[in-house]
Amino acid sequence: MIETLTTRRLELRPWRAEDAPDLYAVARDPQVGPAAGWQPHRSVEESAEVIRTVFASPETYAVVLRESGRPVGCVGLLFPSSSHFRIGATEAEVGYWIGTSWRGRGLMSEALGALVRRAFEELELTALWGCCFVGNGASRRVMEKCGFRYLRTESGLQGLADGSSQTGEILSLTRDAW
Ligand SMILES: CC(C)(COP(=O)(O)OP(=O)(O)OC[C@H]1O[C@@H](n2cnc3c(N)ncnc32)[C@H](O)[C@@H]1OP(=O)(O)O)[C@@H](O)C(=O)NCCC(=O)NCCS
Repeated sequence: MIETLTTRRLELRPWRAEDAPDLYAVARDPQVGPAAGWQPHRSVEESAEVIRTVFASPETYAVVLRESGRPVGCVGLLFPSSSHFRIGATEAEVGYWIGTSWRGRGLMSEALGALVRRAFEELELTALWGCCFVGNGASRRVMEKCGFRYLRTESGLQGLADGSSQTGEILSLTRDAW
């Protein structure tokens, strides 16, 4: 069962149907999706569909500003069946993005830190993995601030939704190291 996680500035909670306009406002921006491997949304209806399908997956959270109550980003875990690379049964891949207007304030590090804690303390996972396209320094830094360490660079990773492949940096964090 998905929880609500509360941090100093954020609430991480399940996505709701009524979030579609806020999601679209952020996800239509080409500075958001392509860096995380998906295309900008083209309509509020598309955002609503993503909430009903992709964001209904377990451990997928809207990143909501406590100050305004509005969702401005997303953070979640991908389990072995949906991960972009092979991971063990008790492991997960992390994924996240936040709207451009809210970047550079430490918000995603705060959100990912809370999810890492949940993954290890409540879900009892043994390791987390993350992958960012080469050149996405902000994403790599978010993971490093949460304790992830660089492992290797891999080419041929699934890139944009258009089927192209990209080179990515793989990082990981074990529960023992955390
Ligand atoms: C990656 C992303 C989630 C970061 O969100 P954010 O809330 O700005 O992250 P934070 O503020 O918590 O941390 C960003 C860190 O990266 C650093 N940073 C920013 N741009 C950087 C760059 N080009 N190179 C290296 N570090 C960079 C910041 O200085 C900060 O580190 P610091 O706190 O030590 O100063 C956001 O940029 C985003 O949504 N990008 C598009 C989607 C995406 O890339 N998702 C990840 C897919 S793997």
